[in-house]
Amino acid sequence: MSEDRAPSAAFVRNAAGSLACESTELRALAERHGTPLYVYSAASFRGRYRRLGAACREHLAGLDPIVAYSVKACSSLGILKRLAAEGCGFDVVSGGELLRVARAGGDLGKTILAGVGKTDAELELALEAGVFQINVESAGELARLDAAAKRRRVRARAALRVNPAIDPKTHPHLATSAPTSKFGLELDDARGALAAPERFPNVEFVGLHLHLGSMLRDAHLWEEAFERIAPLLALFPGGSPKTLDVGGGIAIGVGSEPELAPEKWLTRIGPLLRRVGARPILEPGRWIAAPSGALLTRVLDVKNAGGRRIVVVDAAMNDLIRPALYGAVHPIELAARVERAPRAVDVVGPVCESGDFLGKNITLPDPQPGDLLAILDAGAYGFSMASTYNSRPRAAEVLVEKGGDVLLRRRETFDDVVRGELL
Ligand code: LLP
Repeated sequence: MSEDRAPSAAFVRNAAGSLACESTELRALAERHGTPLYVYSAASFRGRYRRLGAACREHLAGLDPIVAYSVKACSSLGILKRLAAEGCGFDVVSGGELLRVARAGGDLGKTILAGVGKTDAELELALEAGVFQINVESAGELARLDAAAKRRRVRARAALRVNPAIDPKTHPHLATSAPTSKFGLELDDARGALAAPERFPNVEFVGLHLHLGSMLRDAHLWEEAFERIAPLLALFPGGSPKTLDVGGGIAIGVGSEPELAPEKWLTRIGPLLRRVGARPILEPGRWIAAPSGALLTRVLDVKNAGGRRIVVVDAAMNDLIRPALYGAVHPIELAARVERAPRAVDVVGPVCESGDFLGKNITLPDPQPGDLLAILDAGAYGFSMASTYNSRPRAAEVLVEKGGDVLLRRRETFDDVVRGELL
């Protein structure tokens, strides 16, 4: 099977029953690099990016779409470098992410700066770097972008991020297009700006941007949003926008809830994009990264608490905050195949917070100290949201590629944790 069509299943059991990333056993990676450890599959990152590309070629032919990987999902330089080599564009939301793309050799001409609050310094950095477009989220920011462009003697290419004010039907923390959301411009404010372009002489209005939320399962949400923004399209110079950024948000499968397959998504929104005729921009993060990574952790201790079985591991909420922050559910598996009775357990980390858990009521073959666990679907918003809370050094990141493994980031030391602090 070609990588184009069969990208997933980066973590599978081999004939001996050991969980492996591609063909490398997780046990061997944990022994070599220690735990907690983020493990990524290069073939999965590439394969999923290529599958999206193939779907774009099929459904958006002739529109020259840009797939702009959302850097926040997994921003390691080694990952960005490999996606850049595939011809990927990038969605960045800070000066830091922009500098990461530049450092990784990404094409800044295919990079979009978004974000709800950009500083003047970030706007100037993006203008200087010559990014493809800057997505503006308020009238004040538009004025500041105009001033920054004047200072730098360039014309800024701006898209207006608009809030279609719908119900994106996802976790409240992942919803970005509800009526009271902090993101984007209200439709009336966007209309006001587009109707008076002379107020922003150093800005070219190139397009519109929508990002409805994350973990979205229903393509109808985009149809609803397109309907809401339709009246704005004719206000662009020449009667239509040059670009239409549909954001990211396509869901991966979790438990019995299926993914939003990009082929299905594009089958639905492709005709709408075709009708507008603008160059589409897609900003997927999670769909590419999440199934491409796992967090490996070792069991430290097991104990009982009020009838529950508690499994204390060496990874914690500082390594993977999603369960604590969103109640997110990640599959957790024992790396080795062992013959033990299944047991429902809570997998918790060593951080001093009751919210520090990685999985609740997970059925595993009776975990024992020393066992290696793999927390799956952790490639997106895993390491990129990691912190040093409790003065815990951040984990190492390793990439499995072409039968070998490459260290992308060494494990932090205590010196890393206190770097920059003054006594
Ligand atoms: N574009 C924009 C403007 C965004 O704000 C985001 C994500 C994306 C694209 C990518 O969305 P994705 O395809 O990954 O769903 N930390 C949360 C997710 C926050 C998403 C923030 N914005 C989590 O762990 O679930």
